[in-house]
Amino acid sequence: MSPDVWLIPLRDLDADARAIHLGAVAELELAPGQQEFVGDPLRMMLAGLEDGSRRPYVVEAGGRAAGVLTLQSGAARLAGWPDDDSAWLLRGFLIDRRRQGQGLGQAAASAAVAAAAKLTARLGGGQTGVVLSVNQSNPAGQGAYLKAGFVDKGLYLGSETGPQRTMYAPF
Ligand SMILES: CC(C)(COP(=O)(O)OP(=O)(O)OC[C@H]1O[C@@H](n2cnc3c(N)ncnc32)[C@H](O)[C@@H]1OP(=O)(O)O)[C@@H](O)C(=O)NCCC(=O)NCCS
Repeated sequence: MSPDVWLIPLRDLDADARAIHLGAVAELELAPGQQEFVGDPLRMMLAGLEDGSRRPYVVEAGGRAAGVLTLQSGAARLAGWPDDDSAWLLRGFLIDRRRQGQGLGQAAASAAVAAAAKLTARLGGGQTGVVLSVNQSNPAGQGAYLKAGFVDKGLYLGSETGPQRTMYAPF
């Protein structure tokens, strides 16, 4: 059974609650070598709050922060999608190294698709799914996304960080 995770939308919190969550994000850690696949979690959350097209979320499990992810509108081409607007871009996704391998990544990726569908229903952006790019040499990332129902849409060579797989999940 997949574990329960909650996505906490930082954009919707008041300043105090946001600060508490950002403090927890600052404690998240990656395993050695994983920095090549994703940025610093606190910086990504702060950048997400600055940019109106991004919605940064803290992944919470068992009552504490376990990771982060961001949904972005109007940017799907960054993952090798043919247009920017028909899909949400999922980016900046990580689970703390001490809690990896417990199904949280898979559960959080599924929750991100559900959250994106709700955003589209609320905001009317017309997206029909979620797209992301994952490094070809990142089997943990690919595995978590496949288990969450994403489908491999092929090779994407447009990233500065090497060959990627474009993966898509419809709502
Ligand atoms: C990618 C990441 C979010 C996955 O999170 P996770 O909580 O460890 O993933 P899950 O436990 O849900 O694993 C789901 C599936 O992924 C696969 N998987 C997980 N870790 C793996 C590894 N080290 N090697 C190969 N496959 C792996 C497995 O198929 C697993 O299913 P299983 O439990 O039935 O074996 C996490 O490894 C991470 O934060 N990595 C660093 C940042 C990163 O790479 N982000 C993605 C950028 S696109």
